[in-house]
Amino acid sequence: MNKIRIGALISGGGTNLQAIIDACDQNRIQAEMVFVGADNHNAYGLDRASKHNIPTFIVDYRQIIQTYRRAAHEVTLPEDFDIDDIRQKQYLLKPDTNSQKADFFLSTRAAAEAQLLEKIAPYSPDLLILAGFMRNLTPYFIDRFNTDAGHPRIMNIHPALLPAFPGTDGYGDTYRYGCKVAGCTVHFIDYGEDSGPIIGQKAFPILENDTLESVQKKGLELEWQLYPECIQLFAQGRLHVASLTHLLPNNQVVQRCVVKIAQNA
Ligand code: GAR
Repeated sequence: MNKIRIGALISGGGTNLQAIIDACDQNRIQAEMVFVGADNHNAYGLDRASKHNIPTFIVDYRQIIQTYRRAAHEVTLPEDFDIDDIRQKQYLLKPDTNSQKADFFLSTRAAAEAQLLEKIAPYSPDLLILAGFMRNLTPYFIDRFNTDAGHPRIMNIHPALLPAFPGTDGYGDTYRYGCKVAGCTVHFIDYGEDSGPIIGQKAFPILENDTLESVQKKGLELEWQLYPECIQLFAQGRLHVASLTHLLPNNQVVQRCVVKIAQNA
């Protein structure tokens, strides 16, 4: 069977990236890692990629944001950037975010995302995986990458059992809340933060003698299993997104995009 081409975006250590590279090398998933991109120069995952001769690139988000803050005209916004369209579609920002703040966020991210798109394009990936990429992608990027409506192809791994505890510290939030179960989630990206259709989850009990560190360790080990499994389902063409509508007893209508997993490849 043909291998799919996957690209990864990272921000840090890249242990998930490593697990996926190893799964590719060992033919546990029918995929080939064709690039690794990072939002900062210090991401150790870039070294991991280089060790496997995988091309890398960096889009320095912090520098773009700092330059824009200092002298906005020095940052090139993409020609096809329509801030009203992006503002309306996204639900990353709280509705009461002041409009100057919102425009700053959306403009700087679109500037960075245009660079990402340019660097990604030559590799023609079938799937983009976010592996500890600590930046939210806006509709500017998502609409230009997900060109086939109804067939999302950006995946993320999150260190909590979504929809609980979205954000930047999933295990910490789970642990501090006093949850008795923790876990990780792989999902497709949509216009919100960690809100897209769920592909797979793994859970484990939090025991009395667990610490935040032990919860993080147990969780990461499950992430290394879950992410390759979900990528393999995508490679086999078994993931389909369906929009389901439910009528609640109070007559409220609830609509939600969910992932359906076909039994056979
Ligand atoms: C992982 O725990 C991943 O779930 C989390 O960052 C860590 C990256 O570790 N991602 C997020 O929190 C995304 N919001 P890694 O760099 O060793 O793969």
